[in-house]
Amino acid sequence: MLAASGVALEFRGVGKIFPDGTEAVRGVSFMVEDGQFVAVVGPSGAGKSTLLRVASGLTEPSSGTVAVGPTVPGYVFQDPTLLPWRSVQANIALLAQLAGLPRTRRRELVAEAISLTGLEGFERHLPRTLSGGMRMRVSLARALTMRPSLFLFDEPFGAVDEITRQRLGQEVLRLYERERFAGLFVTHSVVEAVWLASRVIVLSARPGRVLAEIDVPFDYPRPLDLRFDAVFGATARTVSAALQESFA
Ligand SMILES: Nc1ncnc2c1ncn2[C@@H]1O[C@H](COP(=O)(O)OP(=O)(O)O)[C@@H](O)[C@H]1O
Ligand SMILES: [Mg+2]
Repeated sequence: MLAASGVALEFRGVGKIFPDGTEAVRGVSFMVEDGQFVAVVGPSGAGKSTLLRVASGLTEPSSGTVAVGPTVPGYVFQDPTLLPWRSVQANIALLAQLAGLPRTRRRELVAEAISLTGLEGFERHLPRTLSGGMRMRVSLARALTMRPSLFLFDEPFGAVDEITRQRLGQEVLRLYERERFAGLFVTHSVVEAVWLASRVIVLSARPGRVLAEIDVPFDYPRPLDLRFDAVFGATARTVSAALQESFA
């Protein structure tokens, strides 16, 4: 379904029951406006990945509707899913190639994505020679080549160490501040959610329902030390408290 103008993604009463009877999410309604960055937190198994799959059209909802803007959403998974035999550059070019874009346009888009993600100098490397953080950059760059107006992030930094995680978070923020795409970012880190997003959705345990929507009262650009601000701390505490309820 096509979203209303100004809306990047809208869930209306979305429920999903899998064929084996597992009810993953129930009655989920929320909206991501154009250019807005929204985070989702919730317990493991709350249906967060299911919601992203529904948003991307990979899964049909069992009830309710989902509407997205006219472009195919960019999808960044926890596993960077790179092709091991292809260079960084060739991995990044994959989606543009599958979409049948002409070679010159493809080159432009790939060069731009490489520069935006700081991968210059690594174009000819193979994925196995890269760190986890660098592989995640390649995955992000590959999604960027399609210039999506909506990005879906499924715990993209779950598998990297804390320092790399912060750096990648900073890079996503910088990209967002520059490109102003809409984003739906699933994370299990409360601090990461508050740091990146202008709104945080808290899901209950399975079946996932929206327990709280918490606004984050900071504009962009956001400095790294924002996380030590008192208002930031108070917002993170509110999200944490809502998350505690999700386990109740
Ligand atoms: N294809 C499927 N068939 C049956 N159950 C599934 C399927 N995909 C996910 N589930 C179940 O649905 C629930 C939600 O899964 P998921 O969306 O992956 O949760 P999360 O990403 O929040 O951890 C889990 O209990 C999971 O085991
Ligand atoms: Mg998941």
